[in-house]
Amino acid sequence: MNPKASLLIVDDEDAVRDSLAKWFDEEGYSVDTADSGREALLKLPGRRWDLALVDIRMPGMDGLELHRKLRDADPKIIVIIMTGYASVETAAQALKDGAYDYIMKPFDPDELDHTVAKALEHRRTKEENLRLRETLEEVRAVELVGQSPLMRQVLESILTVAHNDATVLIHGEAGSGKELVARAIHNLSPRRFLPMVTARCGALTDTLLESELFGHEKGAFSGAQYHKKGKFEVADGGTVFLDEIADITLKAQADLLRVLEEKEITRLGGNQAIKVDFRAIAATTKDLAALVKEGTFRSDLYYCLNVVGISLPPLRERKEDIPLLFDHFLSKYSRAMNKRFTGVSRPALDTLMNYPWPGNVRELENAIERAMVIGREPEIQAADFPLQVSPTLPPEGSLALDDVERGHILRVLEYFEWNQTRAAKALGIDRVTLYNKIKKYGFRKANAVA
Ligand SMILES: Nc1ncnc2c1ncn2[C@@H]1O[C@H](COP(=O)(O)OP(=O)(O)OP(=O)(O)O)[C@@H](O)[C@H]1O
Ligand SMILES: [Mg+2]
Repeated sequence: MNPKASLLIVDDEDAVRDSLAKWFDEEGYSVDTADSGREALLKLPGRRWDLALVDIRMPGMDGLELHRKLRDADPKIIVIIMTGYASVETAAQALKDGAYDYIMKPFDPDELDHTVAKALEHRRTKEENLRLRETLEEVRAVELVGQSPLMRQVLESILTVAHNDATVLIHGEAGSGKELVARAIHNLSPRRFLPMVTARCGALTDTLLESELFGHEKGAFSGAQYHKKGKFEVADGGTVFLDEIADITLKAQADLLRVLEEKEITRLGGNQAIKVDFRAIAATTKDLAALVKEGTFRSDLYYCLNVVGISLPPLRERKEDIPLLFDHFLSKYSRAMNKRFTGVSRPALDTLMNYPWPGNVRELENAIERAMVIGREPEIQAADFPLQVSPTLPPEGSLALDDVERGHILRVLEYFEWNQTRAAKALGIDRVTLYNKIKKYGFRKANAVA
C-alpha cells in the first residue's frame, strides 16, 4: 500500500464522512474531507488528490457533476462513487462517465479499503505503462526495432546510459546495429540538439587519423593546405562516435586516451591546447579485452572507454525479431519504391527464420530490399531472396540459367520502367551488356506485362 496516497472524501452525512476519514487516516493515507461538491471545489485550487470517494446524492451539486469537475481539473484522478440509494442506473452512468468504480452503502470498511488500494495500484501500473510506451516511442524515433528479451536489455541499457555522460563501448558483430545504438544514445541524451560526429578509426594511417580526430594546422604535413578542425572540435558539445576503435595503433591509443581524460586537444602541427566538450561512444566488432591481454590494446584506454559496455547480440540469437524487422524494412522500402507488398509468403518467412544471418541486420535489410526489387506484388516469395539466404529454386518451370536470367532481367527492367541505365546499375552490369541481353532475349517494352 502507498502510505502517501492522498484521498478526498465528499459526503454530506457527517457520520459517514468522519468515520471514513478516521479509517483511512489510520491506514496511512493523507485525507481531506468536504461536505458538499461546492466545498470540495473550493479546496481544489493548489490541491490534487490521487483518489476521491464521492457520495452520489448530495444537496446542491450531485456526485456525477462533481466527478466531472474533478476530472476536468485533473484527468488522472480516480473517482469512486458511493451510493446510498442503491440507484444502480445512476452509478452505471458514473462508470460511463469514467468513474473507476462504485460502492454501495452501507459498506464494509475492509472492502472499501481493498477497492481503494486496488484502484491506486491500477493507476500506478497505468502510469508505468504510459511511461514505458513513451520511452519505447522515443527509442522508436531512432528506429531501433526489436522486442526480443536480448534487444529489450539493450534498450534498457540505452535508456539508462543516455542521460548521463558516461563513455560507452558498444560491441557487436558487423551489421548488428552498433551505429544505430550510438545514434539512439545520442538522440536520447541531453546532447541531442548538438551534432553526433562519426570518426571511422579503422584503415587510417596515424597521421590521417590524428588529423581526423584532432584537426591540423596549415602545413602540418604534406597535403595539409588549410587548417582543419578535427571531430572532437566539430562535435562541439555533442557526441563523438569512434567506430572500429580496435584498429588504431598504440601511438594513436595514447593520444586518444589523453584527450578522453583531459578533454583537451592540440591540432596536428599546432601548439595550443583547445578545450573540447564531448561525449564519447566507441564501437568495435572485436573482443577488446582479449586484445588487451594480447598487448595490442592499452588497458587504460580500454577501461576509459568501457565505463558502460553494451553488447549487441547477433541476429541469429534473437530470431524472434526477424518478423518485426521484416515489417520495418518492408514499409521503409515500400515508401521509397512506391510498391505495395502486403507481406511475405509462409515458406519465405521460414527461409528468413532458418538462415543464420552472418551479416546480421544489414544483410537482412539488403535481402529484403533486393527481394522487393525482384519480387512481384503482393507477396515476397522465398525465391526473391539472394541465393545464400534461399537456396530454393524459382518455381518458374525451367531451371535453365538463361530462363532464370531472362525472367530476372525482365523484372528489373520492368521495375525501373525500362530505364536501362538504372536497370544495368541494379543488375551490376554495364549498359552495353544489358543492351545485348535485351536483344538476345528479344525483349520489347511490351514484354513487360508478361
Ligand atoms: N535493431 C534494428 N532496427 C532497425 N534497423 C537496424 C537495427 N539494427 C541494425 N539496423 C540497420 O542495419 C544496418 C546496419 O546497422 P549499423 O550500421 O548500425 O551496424 P553496425 O553494427 O555499425 O555495422 P558495421 O560493424 O558493419 O559498421 C543499418 O541500415 C541499420 O539501420
Ligand atoms: Mg558501423
